[in-house]
Amino acid sequence: MKMKVFICCLFVIANISNNGKASVDSPVSYTANVLEDTLKNSEKCYRPCKFNVKPKRCHYKFNIEPSIGDNKFPISINGIAPGPPIYACVNDVIVVEVTNRIPGQSIAVHWHGVEQRGTPFMDGVPMVTQCPVEYGTTYKYLFVASSPGTFFYHADSVAHQSDGVYGLLVVNQPQPLEPHASIYDFDRGNENSLLIGAKFPVPLTGSLEDTSQIQPNALVINSDEETTKLFVLPGYAYRLRLINAVAIECPVTINIDSHDLMIIATDGKPVKPVMTHNVQLYPGERMDVVVRMSQSSGGYWVRARGADSCAGLTATAMLLYSGFNYTSMLLDKQNDPRQHQDTDIDLTINGQMLESSKNTKDASHSPEVKSVYLSIDKNVVNVKDNDFRYISDAIPKKPYYPAPMFLKDNGVVQINGKSFLYPNAPILLQPKDVREDLICNVGEEGSQLEAQCIQILNAVQGETMELVLVNEGFGGNDSYTFHMHGFSMQVVSTWRHPHHHPLTREEVMRMDEEGRIVRNLKNPVNKDTITIPNKGFMIVRIALDRGGSWLLECRSCGLSLPAAVIIQVPLTIPKDVSESLHKCGSYRPPDVLLN
Ligand SMILES: *[C@@H]1O[C@H](CO)[C@@H](O)[C@H](O)[C@H]1NC(C)=O
Ligand SMILES: *[C@@H]1O[C@H](CO)[C@@H](O)[C@H](O)[C@H]1NC(C)=O
Repeated sequence: MKMKVFICCLFVIANISNNGKASVDSPVSYTANVLEDTLKNSEKCYRPCKFNVKPKRCHYKFNIEPSIGDNKFPISINGIAPGPPIYACVNDVIVVEVTNRIPGQSIAVHWHGVEQRGTPFMDGVPMVTQCPVEYGTTYKYLFVASSPGTFFYHADSVAHQSDGVYGLLVVNQPQPLEPHASIYDFDRGNENSLLIGAKFPVPLTGSLEDTSQIQPNALVINSDEETTKLFVLPGYAYRLRLINAVAIECPVTINIDSHDLMIIATDGKPVKPVMTHNVQLYPGERMDVVVRMSQSSGGYWVRARGADSCAGLTATAMLLYSGFNYTSMLLDKQNDPRQHQDTDIDLTINGQMLESSKNTKDASHSPEVKSVYLSIDKNVVNVKDNDFRYISDAIPKKPYYPAPMFLKDNGVVQINGKSFLYPNAPILLQPKDVREDLICNVGEEGSQLEAQCIQILNAVQGETMELVLVNEGFGGNDSYTFHMHGFSMQVVSTWRHPHHHPLTREEVMRMDEEGRIVRNLKNPVNKDTITIPNKGFMIVRIALDRGGSWLLECRSCGLSLPAAVIIQVPLTIPKDVSESLHKCGSYRPPDVLLN
């Protein structure tokens, strides 16, 4: 086993040192050919996955650029938004050459849920795992599809993602390895995936306005140009992949008229199957469901309904039995778009209600864990005008955002009373270049006077870390959705105050000391995207078996200032790899230049 991992990583490293450098491209005009190639290529690694065959190299070119035309997502990849889907088999190498053609913007692309084994510098977080991809340059991402499951990719920036920079990523494995393969007859990720996004009335990228109050005005399933159609045969069971690819607080509930859903996986990991009518997905969450085609013919609506920032928004797809003429359905829909809407809330299942399909092996004597308690809450930050933009040479989450304009009134979601600051140099690659005075280690925030700092949680490789995430609820009534980069977390406890009282981190620590918190160590669900209930907490465990700088970030905390911490697991990057990786940061002339 050890040997196999070693070989895989050498292979990856060899390729990076040849091709990993960012380069400046000459301007090229892209024609319809590129789009055609993209669509053709996106299918090229789609195939039944087999044992004992050589993995493929799945090569994509992404040109990210402003879109032309009304009513479209403002940014597209190769002319389409969402971007081209990526399909692979486990162990395939995925190569994506990302070229940034958005004037005045730098970007990075995150592969949501991908573990990045051996390639922590391909995780796509600017100034954490890589240098931002500047306008006119190309960054070649290269990583192994090491785990099967339903994933997606998106721009790290909330604004870019909201403007259309996201797409599907499905990794398959040989069918006998699928734990729930006996439950379904068809698993066609390329035809049976529903990627849900939200469209905004104005572009968010580059906006100088306070975009935090701008709500989306449409939900989109797969494409905004045509209704997605799922063609099915009666009596058979199909595996569908559902993805909430929205970048703001926008939970989406999905049902299919006259059909039941059986949940078999979430965030790429199998769960104990559960039957329901509705599934609810928070931003960044995925669920795989099996639908048995229990009707004999006809057409049925697949309905997605938004809540919170997406309240009132709906989108539909069609489930069509073979031979059914769906024209009448479209006419029907115009007459009454909400007919048959399933509002059976009792039968709505969300990710935290699930259990793993496998029992944890050593449940009786669980590994030694260190608990770290984090308080999360919305706070009103006292800032002098313009402080935030000029606090340092680091970049905020949303470039150019004049945060102080509204911070005073609305407050921002913070972890341990601080807002996250992106480092001034990529901390994974150039730790020595990161300004120490901007860092605040978790637990020692008191010594940092600034409201915004690079929040770091230092860890040791091999340890299992337990995070007790307390959503205190003094400053707000929202639940918050967090995404862990690189790792699946075991969700061992979720709790909400029964009388909706705000609670402090210290109160939760006391509850824990007094043994009043129950942990499920037997079959906790594995997730990379979690929602921490307001006036409650969630406890997760992460087995940190790999070095890297891994972001745990809120994906629903608004557009102003990020709420995140970097889980820093020491890593020595081989010299040839580190030399091949693009460098960036501030320039300060050495004294020799001044003599
Ligand atoms: C489908 O139905 C529409 C309207 O009812 C009709 O005009 C059309 O010819 C039908 N198409 C087929 C292929 O039967
Ligand atoms: C939270 O909800 C409570 C009770 O409904 C309400 O009194 C309070 O104003 C709300 N807080 C915020 C920040 O909206």
